[in-house]
Amino acid sequence: MRINHLPIRYDYYLEQSEKWELIFSEISLPRTSTVLELCTGWSPKIGLALARYGLNGMCILSDQNETALEVCQRLLEPVAHDFKIIPSVGSIFDQVFPQADLIILNHALDDILLNDYLQQLPEKKELTENEYESMDFLRQYWELGEMTMRNRLPQLSQLLATQLSQSLSKGGKVLISQYPGYQEKLHNMNIAVQLANEFNLSLKTELQKLGFTQSDCRSEAVVSIYSVE
Ligand SMILES: C[S@@+](CC[C@H](N)C(=O)[O-])C[C@H]1O[C@@H](n2cnc3c(N)ncnc32)[C@H](O)[C@@H]1O
Repeated sequence: MRINHLPIRYDYYLEQSEKWELIFSEISLPRTSTVLELCTGWSPKIGLALARYGLNGMCILSDQNETALEVCQRLLEPVAHDFKIIPSVGSIFDQVFPQADLIILNHALDDILLNDYLQQLPEKKELTENEYESMDFLRQYWELGEMTMRNRLPQLSQLLATQLSQSLSKGGKVLISQYPGYQEKLHNMNIAVQLANEFNLSLKTELQKLGFTQSDCRSEAVVSIYSVE
């Protein structure tokens, strides 16, 4: 992370972590839980929220980008006194995770979709932090890959639903938060927003096929809560 971005970002992360802390209270997350966050990226907001909430269990942060996880872990070290942070590097589709009581996907469906497309290009492209922030750069890939990504949606939804089902402990919950990001709204990234919505809907169908039910979340955040008996 570029150091001059840190104060602004950190304020945003803190603001976001307040919302997540509220959600953890609303779902009465046991403080001893094992929490798995998929596609953490460079954002420590879930870890910060768990620290505020007083987790004393375990938090697994997973991403294919090792540097992103290192940055997150470093930002969380000063506040995560009572719980253990475990970085898990690799594709979320290839890993076998410890059974988690709570699995979180925060604003990650668009990234999973785009990454899947880029990995199929001959150069197997993986985006850097700077590239994730460059709207012109991203727009070019969303426009080029729209058809390919739409065609991949059913298979990706199935794969993700299966991974979520296999990684969740009995009685656990999956929280999926997908909303048009600030940059996406600002730069009219309609394709990204639309495809992420389609992914969200198709994932819901796949989760339901695996016996998950969706319950409402009472907080203002756009979060879908799924559980399975
Ligand atoms: C831009 S970050 C942001 C998402 C973050 N959850 C947030 O709240 O802002 C997206 C991350 O998703 C990761 N990612 C995308 N697809 C992935 C996959 N299949 N397996 C592991 N990580 C993936 C990328 O490496 C990247 O670090």
